Amino acid sequence: MAALINPSILSADFANLERDLHAIKSADYAHVDVMDNHFVPNLTLGLPVFDRLAAISPVPLDAHLMIDDPDRWAPQFAEAGAASVTFHAEAAQAPVRLARELRRLGARAGVALRPATPVEPFLDLLAEIDMILVMTVEPGFGGQTFIDGTLPKIRRARKAISESGLDVWVQVDGGVSRTTIERAADAGANVFVAGSAVYGADDIPAEIDALRALADA
Ligand code: DX5
Ligand code: ZN
Repeated sequence: MAALINPSILSADFANLERDLHAIKSADYAHVDVMDNHFVPNLTLGLPVFDRLAAISPVPLDAHLMIDDPDRWAPQFAEAGAASVTFHAEAAQAPVRLARELRRLGARAGVALRPATPVEPFLDLLAEIDMILVMTVEPGFGGQTFIDGTLPKIRRARKAISESGLDVWVQVDGGVSRTTIERAADAGANVFVAGSAVYGADDIPAEIDALRALADA
């Protein structure tokens, strides 16, 4: 399966989001980090802004909801046009019901796990979801250091998915760069979020190509 590169607009210029979405048009999805200052100690953007981004983005949107009560909010991101909606396992009351609702609304359904959250409870439920997001930093901020201790969890997720025969994606998010992406790919990730690595690069399209080449190697 070819690697997907999803730059995170958390590292874009929030006064120039349209320009910065066009800057990543060679990417697979634009990763949009939604934070509510409750689930994580940071606040970014909500539905009104997301709705406008969905209307103008040249690439599909991959919403990462770092918020409390995703059971209530996540379906509205699907309705706003997100191609993929990922909610946190730690915050969801009824993850299977929510995933079914997201799929019914036409979005891919993702479940995100903080570094200390086990993947095992979801391995019997793979048929209900489209993606597992293994956080490789504690969610909340860009520019943090990749946590190597998350690699065994990526491996266990990929092994269970392979054995199931299902087409569930494994996304990694946090500290992904030219130096860490191969480790994540070797462990079994196929979708790579990169914020500071992409938007901090002098040549953004070249950085996306370089990350894709390393992940596919
Ligand atoms: C962190 C966010 C990430 C963030 C990654 O909580 O979920 O998507 O933008 O940023 P980098 O790639 O700089 O670690
Ligand atoms: Zn994210």
